[in-house]
Amino acid sequence: MCGIVGYIGAEETAPILIKGLKRLEYRGYDSAGIAVLGSAGLTIRKSKGALKNLEEKIEGELGAGALDGTMGIGHTRWATHGEPSDINSHPHTDVSGKIAVVHNGIIENHAKLKVWLMEHGVSFRSETDTEVIAHLVNFYYKGDLLQAVIGALKRLEGSYALGIICENDPDRIIAVRKESPLVVGAGKGENLIASDVPALLEYTREVYYLEDREIAVLYRDRIEFYNEEGEQRQRESRHVEWDAAAAEKGGYEHFMIKEIHEQPKALRDTLRARIKIAGTKTINLEEIGFDASWAKAERVVIAACGTAWHAGVIGKYAFEKFARIHTEAEIASEYRYRNPIFNPKDIFLIISQSGETADTLAAMRLAKKSGARIIAITNVVGSTLAREADLVMSTLAGPEIAVASTKAFTTQLMCVYLIALQLGRLRGMNDTELAAHIEALEKLPEQAERILAGKEDIQRFASLQFNKSKVFYMGRLFDYATSLESALKLKEISYTHSEAFAAGELKHGPIALVDETTLVTALCTQPALFDKMDSNIKEVKARHAATAVITYDDVDYFDKTADQVFRIPRTLDSLSPILAIIPCQLYAYYCSVLRGLDPDKPRNLAKSVTVE
Ligand code: G6P
Repeated sequence: MCGIVGYIGAEETAPILIKGLKRLEYRGYDSAGIAVLGSAGLTIRKSKGALKNLEEKIEGELGAGALDGTMGIGHTRWATHGEPSDINSHPHTDVSGKIAVVHNGIIENHAKLKVWLMEHGVSFRSETDTEVIAHLVNFYYKGDLLQAVIGALKRLEGSYALGIICENDPDRIIAVRKESPLVVGAGKGENLIASDVPALLEYTREVYYLEDREIAVLYRDRIEFYNEEGEQRQRESRHVEWDAAAAEKGGYEHFMIKEIHEQPKALRDTLRARIKIAGTKTINLEEIGFDASWAKAERVVIAACGTAWHAGVIGKYAFEKFARIHTEAEIASEYRYRNPIFNPKDIFLIISQSGETADTLAAMRLAKKSGARIIAITNVVGSTLAREADLVMSTLAGPEIAVASTKAFTTQLMCVYLIALQLGRLRGMNDTELAAHIEALEKLPEQAERILAGKEDIQRFASLQFNKSKVFYMGRLFDYATSLESALKLKEISYTHSEAFAAGELKHGPIALVDETTLVTALCTQPALFDKMDSNIKEVKARHAATAVITYDDVDYFDKTADQVFRIPRTLDSLSPILAIIPCQLYAYYCSVLRGLDPDKPRNLAKSVTVE
């Protein structure tokens, strides 16, 4: 969703803002703008479309006057209220043009506020909800920007991350958030704000994740924090482990292919931190607070969105298998509105790469109210989810920039397996079974490397199939869950119509769509069901579909049935999704590139969906 950057220091600001916005491009946007405060006062430039349009617009102005200045704010907008246009782009200003605001989120009572402001003589220029904020701040401005912001906040309902500057208050940026992420970076003689850490890494690795309703006031040499009432508070910064290089493409053509290749390392890091090696290997989750008390749970409820929900579906199968505990995998946006039935003895497992997805957070808060205990799996240590959950397990994946999630997904699976196995252990799984699973988990990173080493086979196959108008993925049990994620990857970045279904459902509808324009990829890693899968593949072949199979490297069962067989190293049936998804990620990536698209920035999608 929208990206915010802000800078106050000694450097020329416009290039810093543009660079920061570029680092946030992955969040998804359709227009961009900056406001710089310098000797010429407040100067605003904005442009519909890609950032390069804005860059072209300001090219001649840099170092030549109006855009000179050492503080400013910038924004990439993902349209919600009002179409993408220059006028609707942020920053928005008040009537006097002295106060500039960038905003991520939705002001729910903007219509009422607009009427009220118009009654007070304000005329509006844009169709956005954001413009009301600039006018409100101006309404409360009596010479002190901080007090004006505090006054305006009292009137706002909804979600917001805000960066605000004022020509009459030229040495500070005010930042505040509620339900939308905002990070403050503390540099030397310069301070910054951003929606996400990658935009800050070039300047500092000392950050403050703003809390809900917390206000930060950034001066060149210090940062002050206040609550909504204007009372000052002390905050500790956090050191970010990622360096600037982690947010670069590092020689790869796209972030997505880089992140696909980072999976072996990410899996290794995520696993290693949780295995105790003294004597027989065991899983150690006590450090994160997962102790024997969690074994008393009567049910596990997993809630998440998108790819993270697919990790949850695999989690359902894993918890039921390893811990023999009733488990549900819920789509957070459905769950939160369903008036669900709670049991205080439920474990709530909330999965979110960003830790900021609005629906996921709402489901978590609902569960929390019911008295259930919350475990979070997230990739962002200081995220809202991490702060509000009872127990946090981090996916040690490093920053994921590409919109389509890859390494976050496989590391989420690693965490899910570890928790499910440990719960299984607490509920009676024997030593031998546990040891076999740990051994299999430890092999996965190297096995993932082997799949990546054979990526040319997938590329070749993609070059033959990328124009297929329909692609279906089918599988049973864990393979069904992997199919869901495979179909999502392909549709997200190649815009191919792709669907996943449980192979047993083939005859109940999907087969009506199968013809010679269809590719059906069957995931076959559940040996007990190979004969059923074989029949399903024959059924679609008989309707002239092209067929591909993903199975283990020691299986020749499908060689005569399928047109193409891709092999992955043998692992336990329950752990296969971590490996089986990799060829499907690669297939989606190559199809996207072959179709001339940018896999890192798919149309209409955002990395982090912070509004409902
Ligand atoms: C968006 C992203 C997906 C992601 C989903 C949930 O749709 O494009 O890649 O899976 O949000 O995000 P989360 O940060 O909660 O995992």
